[in-house]
Amino acid sequence: MEIEFVAAAAALQPKTAVAQIVFEGEAPKGKLDQAVAASRFTGAKGQTLDLVTPAGLDVARLVLIGTGKREGFDALAAEHAAANAYAALKATGFEILRLEIPEADAETAAHAALGLRLAAYRFDKYRTKEPADKKPSLLSAQIVTADPDAARTAFPPLAAVADAVSFTRDLVSEPANILYPVEFARRVKELGSLGLEVEILGEPEMTKLGMGSLLGVGQGSVRESQLVVIRWNGAADKAAQPIAFVGKGVCFDSGGISIKPAEGMEDMKWDMGGAGAVAGLMHVLAARKAKVNVVGILGLVENMPDANAQRPGDVVTSMSGQTIEVINTDAEGRLVLADAIWYCQDRFKPKLIVDLATLTGAIITALGNEYAGLFSNNDELAANLLDASQKEGELLWRMPLPDAYNKQIDSVIADVKNTGGRAGGSITAALFIQKFINGVPWAHLDIASTAWKKPSSTPTIPDGATGYGVRLLNRMVQEKYEG
Ligand code: BES
Ligand code: MN
Ligand code: ZN
Repeated sequence: MEIEFVAAAAALQPKTAVAQIVFEGEAPKGKLDQAVAASRFTGAKGQTLDLVTPAGLDVARLVLIGTGKREGFDALAAEHAAANAYAALKATGFEILRLEIPEADAETAAHAALGLRLAAYRFDKYRTKEPADKKPSLLSAQIVTADPDAARTAFPPLAAVADAVSFTRDLVSEPANILYPVEFARRVKELGSLGLEVEILGEPEMTKLGMGSLLGVGQGSVRESQLVVIRWNGAADKAAQPIAFVGKGVCFDSGGISIKPAEGMEDMKWDMGGAGAVAGLMHVLAARKAKVNVVGILGLVENMPDANAQRPGDVVTSMSGQTIEVINTDAEGRLVLADAIWYCQDRFKPKLIVDLATLTGAIITALGNEYAGLFSNNDELAANLLDASQKEGELLWRMPLPDAYNKQIDSVIADVKNTGGRAGGSITAALFIQKFINGVPWAHLDIASTAWKKPSSTPTIPDGATGYGVRLLNRMVQEKYEG
């Protein structure tokens, strides 16, 4: 979707439909009196009033987009209103969307543009027979603002966010026969063009490092496991201690020998959503040349049942030296993170670590699909994440890390076991990861609840891959760690 910022006086081009954002209780008067009176449109959030060739106006199609009370109209509301406008007109045959927002300043116009970009995302590369009249017809948008030049200046960092979220959504949407660890790593390597340094470690390198925990997960797959290290050194002092993000990248999670039931197993192609979000974060940081040193680490594996697969009851030795009894081969994400996180600390001595993982079904039971779970050993880091989460509308709920539950993951024969039973399943998973944290401020985001949505309840998120995490982490880095 091409986006332009224009002044109110700019002439309407052919094939243009107009969407007008309306605050609650401020429905337009005058020529639209009759149309509004003949409907129940008040401007309440989520309402639309679609008018074909409205009498007395020289537009062929006009949609009023209700957006709630003026007082509550912030950046996120502007994104949502724009996204609703896109949804109302995307497949009407019109090619240009002209978006009118009352008294839109540059910041509002730029956020409306972001909303359009996010809403217009589609993963359609595998559709070969979609009927033309079902395809989106909108090609571009003109956003009306009092100050088009200022909007053009405000938009690039947000366009970088849209690009990065799309990159993550593409990775997460790809089926596992296309996106396996080596291919994922290859796509990340291409981000070198943005100025990122990307290193790829294969199985021989990981064997040398002693990553028995990560490698055990991938050993039943014909696809080689990969560890990807992405670096962005944007701080004035290139040697300054970095902050670090680690992502679970299980390109397909069959459960392994503890195989999952058939129903819903196809969803496990998106079990790399944590790694996808970290890759997207690095994308946006590089694109907007963030003034901070950041390391992103992706643990990429495929979890398959096979003659060579690891068995329930196997004991593996992690890079940290701790031994792990693998009770259930389907609790594989934590095994991947254990080594990826240890490696990250060992090599980079980061100031803090945030890991993202589609780790547990239990987080969906606990929080539903609007919130991801936040676990942290550090109140300041947790507060920074919660603050950014509110501002970007990527919701987080803090969960406890009670020492008392550690006994659920005590093993009879090894240092720790990889499952803790049904009770508090997301918490014992987080406690397991904490055993591989070596004194650094750390937060774990369990995004099994938010990485994929069907149906989506947010206008800026089409059904499917959400890109959850990119916006939230980009915001946190920007507000708290750059300078
Ligand atoms: N990838 C799954 C978690 C998951 C489940 C993500 C549903 C998204 C939707 C993870 O690897 C897993 O299988 N977890 C198990 C852990 C259990 C075996 C202790 C789970 O949640 O059931
Ligand atoms: Mn699993
Ligand atoms: Zn998994």
